Amino acid sequence: MNILLLGGTAWLGRTIAETAVAAGHDVSCVARGTDAPAGVTLVQADRDEDHALASLTAPGTARWDAVIDVARQPGYVRRAVHDLAAHAERYVYISSCNVYASLASYGIDEAAPLNTALTSDVMASPDEYGAAKVACEEAVLAGFGADRTIIIRPGLIGGPGDPTGRSSYWPLRFARPSNPQAQVLVPDAAQQLTSVIDVRDLAAWIMRLLEQTVSGIFNAAGNPTPLGEHLAIARRLADHKGSLVGASPEWLASQDVAQWSGPRSFPLWLADPEARGIGALSNESARATGLVLRPLTDTLSDTLAWANSCGIATVTRSGLTDDEECELLGELGRA
Ligand SMILES: NC(=O)c1ccc[n+]([C@@H]2O[C@H](COP(=O)([O-])OP(=O)(O)OC[C@H]3O[C@@H](n4cnc5c(N)ncnc54)[C@H](OP(=O)(O)O)[C@@H]3O)[C@@H](O)[C@H]2O)c1
Repeated sequence: MNILLLGGTAWLGRTIAETAVAAGHDVSCVARGTDAPAGVTLVQADRDEDHALASLTAPGTARWDAVIDVARQPGYVRRAVHDLAAHAERYVYISSCNVYASLASYGIDEAAPLNTALTSDVMASPDEYGAAKVACEEAVLAGFGADRTIIIRPGLIGGPGDPTGRSSYWPLRFARPSNPQAQVLVPDAAQQLTSVIDVRDLAAWIMRLLEQTVSGIFNAAGNPTPLGEHLAIARRLADHKGSLVGASPEWLASQDVAQWSGPRSFPLWLADPEARGIGALSNESARATGLVLRPLTDTLSDTLAWANSCGIATVTRSGLTDDEECELLGELGRA
């Protein structure tokens, strides 16, 4: 196939590009940067500009079998759909589970109600992410039609290279405790469901959908796993012998420890009942169309190996720093 990837210099896009090249496809990547994967043709362009894709649609240029787009801004997608609808067979849009109007329940499937689409071309704040993703989905469906569209709605993507630090935090924390006693602070939430889809499994499945000309809208999520089990796997992989110190959601809130992601957080922890569905999206349609999920042990093991190889400073965008964990363990001991 002749594939046009709008992106490819960041994490998921890069993994998709590498997977497609390895499968023998011709891949062109559009980005501002120069750090494209080996084997692709890089087209440098800024999608903030109206005619960013003009060189790809000039008379005499190739017709694309598929466009794959990782954009977040509705304007990027609206312009790309307008420019490429007559030049490409199919459009794959990487959306998000944040399109759903409610994430309060387990088992959310693709028929669940969506947020209202953002009318603006540009998100004014990260709070508009879900609405922006809905607007992007609508633009692709309007321009390409359902038969020529694949929409992927990931939950949490994890694995080697994870720039958010969410899937690396727990294996790394158990491998490198912050204190001599090797105590690790965890939320009291062992039964809460969480799921991780390995970035490599996601990329492989997207290629399978294209190769088998499947269209549709799909959640992309790992199998729901209790957080306690996830931590036990991470702990075993890291050969952690210290103790776990549990902290209640109420106490963690009083200490400004956030759920899910980002600095001073517990990655994967979902304290807010309105968000708990992120940890247990239905992946039935995805698995029925060829999504093959590797064991979580393999994902976390490879993620730990990657994190160890690239140095702790690059993978701590989420979680507690050593100092924060020591301080919190001290506070809890005094409480
Ligand atoms: N991580 C998760 O758990 C998760 C969950 C749900 C959904 N998602 C979705 O998965 C996707 C992640 O994609 P990704 O990992 O490849 O990362 P990304 O950081 O979203 O990638 C953005 C890509 O677009 C390019 N880009 C950005 N601005 C541009 C511009 N003005 N002109 C041209 N190109 C531009 C970037 O390249 P340059 O900077 O070089 O231009 C980069 O290649 C996103 O759609 C995200 O919403 C992720």
